[in-house]
Amino acid sequence: MVLKNLKLSQFRSYPYLDISFSPNTNIICGKNAQGKTNIVEAIHYFSTLKSHRFVSDKELILTGKDSAQLQIEFQKEQSERRHKMKILLSKSARRELYLNEVKEDNASFLGGFHSVMFSPEDLNLIKGDKEQRRKFLDADVCQIRPRYYKILKYYNSILRNRNKLLKEENPNPELLQVYTEKLVEFGTEVIIYRALFVERLKETAKKIYGEIANGGEELNLRYESELFDHFVEDKSVIRSCFYHHLEKVQKEELLFRTTRVGPHRDDLEFYLDDKNVKIYASQGQQRTIILALKLSELLFIKELTGSYPVLLLDDILSELDRDRQESLFSYIRNCQTIITITDAQKFEVEGAKNFLVEQSVVTEL
Ligand SMILES: Nc1ncnc2c1ncn2[C@@H]1O[C@H](COP(=O)(O)OP(=O)(O)OP(=O)(O)O)[C@@H](O)[C@H]1O
Ligand SMILES: [Mg+2]
Repeated sequence: MVLKNLKLSQFRSYPYLDISFSPNTNIICGKNAQGKTNIVEAIHYFSTLKSHRFVSDKELILTGKDSAQLQIEFQKEQSERRHKMKILLSKSARRELYLNEVKEDNASFLGGFHSVMFSPEDLNLIKGDKEQRRKFLDADVCQIRPRYYKILKYYNSILRNRNKLLKEENPNPELLQVYTEKLVEFGTEVIIYRALFVERLKETAKKIYGEIANGGEELNLRYESELFDHFVEDKSVIRSCFYHHLEKVQKEELLFRTTRVGPHRDDLEFYLDDKNVKIYASQGQQRTIILALKLSELLFIKELTGSYPVLLLDDILSELDRDRQESLFSYIRNCQTIITITDAQKFEVEGAKNFLVEQSVVTEL
């Protein structure tokens, strides 16, 4: 996948932006708060339909304006054909998505353009809260399995309704039963999508971690759910575990007035050998794990789609030591990369296209 061009209008700090990229390495340099992250955020939005900073769409619109427009042009490696994607964000209307000028729904739009983002926030993934890890999983599963976007949305809306009902003085038992059935139906799908993604990612992550860390411990990823000890890809098994657990917490739910089990409480756990990384890993080990995870995503998308996603490295190089930087570059030789750095860093790549950002004005160097 090669991103040719990005055009923004009234997005974040940009009244207007038109930028064309090199198919190889692109380096965007600028002082703090000049608009570097805003550029890669806009690009990544096309892959996940969310900001990687997890803010609402309203915050993405230039202050004082009511709408924003984002547009990209890209090519898939195998063909010369240029594809165009456009997103309209509005404070007062629904978001609109266009693929080659045809209006699309979320599921048909997702999966059109693939990118992987690696930013300093990712380094908190291991020690941060569970919600952050679930969001990481959800964003990535969405771009790989577009149908998941809708399933997750249904699940979240059923969960909201069920919680609202549980908060009522005397929840109607028939209605509660209806919500419970839907919760289990969609929740089971959410679990299967996420856990299968983790299963796929984990073998590559293990291999890459071993290479970067030069042997030593073995990295393991696990999708953790209160519903089972080990994941088995069997809808009926997961469904009955779900019902069984809901029955067990029935009284508790009425007491605490909220849904006490389900994928909204699940987690992604990391182990080195069999030790939980959250408790014991050093900063360096955590960095290597996240690097391995991001590279696995990249390779997974390549395997699935036949082309590398665009790699967005937002302010991350200064966080990685020389060895880790070299490992990273050895994996991404064939991949288009867009790198942001602050101007204090000196960073040069032969043949790279260099840009300078000053107060949301981008110039090519
Ligand atoms: N909706 C918005 N409207 C106008 N300006 C915005 C909006 N959202 C963010 N900004 C501005 O964008 C700037 C931050 O841009 P960005 O996060 O891209 O900076 P950066 O160059 O990546 O900085 P750093 O090096 O600190 O990461 C800030 O000045 C912020 O006020
Ligand atoms: Mg930034």
